[in-house]
Amino acid sequence: MHARDEWILVFDSGLGGISVLRELVQVLPGERFLYFGDSQNAPYGTRATEEVRELTQRCIASLMPRGVKAVVIACNTATAAAIEALRAQYPEKIVVGMEPALKLAAERHAGGRILVMATNVTLREHKFCALMDRFSSVCRVVPLPCPGLVEYIEAGCLHTPEVREYLQALLAPALTDGVDAIVLGCTHFPFLKPLIRELAGPQVEILDGGAGTAQQTRRRLEAKGLLRGAGDGTVELQNSLGTPQILEVSARLLHAGF
Ligand code: DGL
Repeated sequence: MHARDEWILVFDSGLGGISVLRELVQVLPGERFLYFGDSQNAPYGTRATEEVRELTQRCIASLMPRGVKAVVIACNTATAAAIEALRAQYPEKIVVGMEPALKLAAERHAGGRILVMATNVTLREHKFCALMDRFSSVCRVVPLPCPGLVEYIEAGCLHTPEVREYLQALLAPALTDGVDAIVLGCTHFPFLKPLIRELAGPQVEILDGGAGTAQQTRRRLEAKGLLRGAGDGTVELQNSLGTPQILEVSARLLHAGF
């Protein structure tokens, strides 16, 4: 740990991690956040696991020289594929990952039917299968892969008729059997929460892991004495596409209501 290691690096395959960054900024207002979205290579969720791991490691390695005290993998997919490798690679750093908020959903809806919307990689990897096994006696878990959905958010389309149609077709069969909660197991999906809420109905609870991840990051920083007190926190947004458009959409997602 060097005196200049003051940034919290928040990483996602693209724009989704900004939903987590929003929570982090609320919980840690004095911190300096460097957000990096790899939109050039998004989506990660339909790639081979090895490829996701390599892309994630490459992005993180390129940003470490900025002076990073903690890394938040604000991506369920990259966490599933790369968190162990990252922790082994940076043993002296805080490395926080994400997983679908199934534990929370099971606690709140014991005996219920819980839909987990996530990418193919997240749902097929060991991390989620173990989580599902753990809670399968408490509730009925229904995994729902959503290939194609991330692309709408990457394009900044949160309310278009196309995304509505896509979601309706995806959710309708799952909803006919009754659902108690929907877990948004991909950090892109909280941006579609109003639409998902409208399609699922007010009786279905919609949960995501953003707030829990922010609290976990706070706890880890506190435990290591690395918290930066309230005050002049900053956010720097970066993206592998590097175009003015993607940075404009990033800023819009960070600041605007959705
Ligand atoms: N935002 C990522 C997640 O939480 C995945 C998006 C992608 O497929 O690239 O899983």
